[in-house]
Amino acid sequence: MSKFLVLLSAFALYSCAGAAQMAQPAGATRTLIAFGSCAQEAKPQPILQQVADLRPDFFVYLGDNIYGDTYDMNVLRAKYAQLAAKPEYQALRRATTVLATWDDHDFGWNDAGRHYPFAKASKEIFLDFFEEPADSDRRKREGIYTSYLYHYGGKKLQIILLDTRTFRDNLRNYRGELHNQSRYFYPLDYFPHQTSDSTLLGEQQWRWLETELRRPADLRIIGSSTQFGIEFNGYEAWANFPHEQQRMMDLIQKTRAEGVLFISGDVHYAEISKIQPSGAYPIYDVTSSGITSTWHFPTPNAHRIEGPVMENHFGLLSIDWKPADPLIRMEIIDISGNSRIEYTVPLSQLRF
Ligand SMILES: [Fe+2]
Repeated sequence: MSKFLVLLSAFALYSCAGAAQMAQPAGATRTLIAFGSCAQEAKPQPILQQVADLRPDFFVYLGDNIYGDTYDMNVLRAKYAQLAAKPEYQALRRATTVLATWDDHDFGWNDAGRHYPFAKASKEIFLDFFEEPADSDRRKREGIYTSYLYHYGGKKLQIILLDTRTFRDNLRNYRGELHNQSRYFYPLDYFPHQTSDSTLLGEQQWRWLETELRRPADLRIIGSSTQFGIEFNGYEAWANFPHEQQRMMDLIQKTRAEGVLFISGDVHYAEISKIQPSGAYPIYDVTSSGITSTWHFPTPNAHRIEGPVMENHFGLLSIDWKPADPLIRMEIIDISGNSRIEYTVPLSQLRF
């Protein structure tokens, strides 16, 4: 390892340690945030090596980081150990700061929510695996939601990672509610809740999020394991809890939180969705899902503005802080190294 790489790695470790207010080198004018999800631990994961070679500032795991799917915590531990043993995972850890949240499969079971009986044990295994410090708030409260704040010159970057599993109420099963099914050419699993007596994030996490959104920041990346910005598609997504989706939009308006941009995973392909809440700025959701997983079709999504990309890939946000109006480039880079989606917005677009 060259001296330069040693320095970079040391810096990455420093960035990871406190997970709070941290200064970047004075000269840092660009931030690279790579992200991805849905990685089967038994398969080779060349995407991780691609990310490691790029040496981004961060890699954000957005869930289904392993396919645990078990009630046996020894099995869960063994599957994390399988990931840890991969040279490409070790290369990733050496190359960048790894941040993580979970989705259903690493939480414990397909489409599981608050009734999964081993949430507490699974959480400890998750936090140990991702080397969460012993005194971290994440270890003191229920769930794994967390946030980070980084400084780039005079600008502040906030990264918020949600927990969409620990508090999530049951989904409502699809029972043939749609009369015209021509749009949905595949079996639907779920249908949106019609009343607002269920929750996705839970009260405690909502209260915490409000405090976070009131903190001063120029750009706020919100990581949600499931897609925030898509329309209903019969699979798991925020769209099954329309009142919670609305609550997020209302909270952004109420707190006047500017610079919000979502990243998400879960669906085994990549796309960018865009929604335009009335009275607010456009909300983008960049989905990167497919470190190893693929799916054979994209679901209908009227909010899709880019994609889908069906091959294995990772997501990349490049933030150029140099201009007076910083630029945010959203990108999807596939397994062959091709940039398949490239969509740039100025930070001023994410303002009221
Ligand atoms: Fe998932």
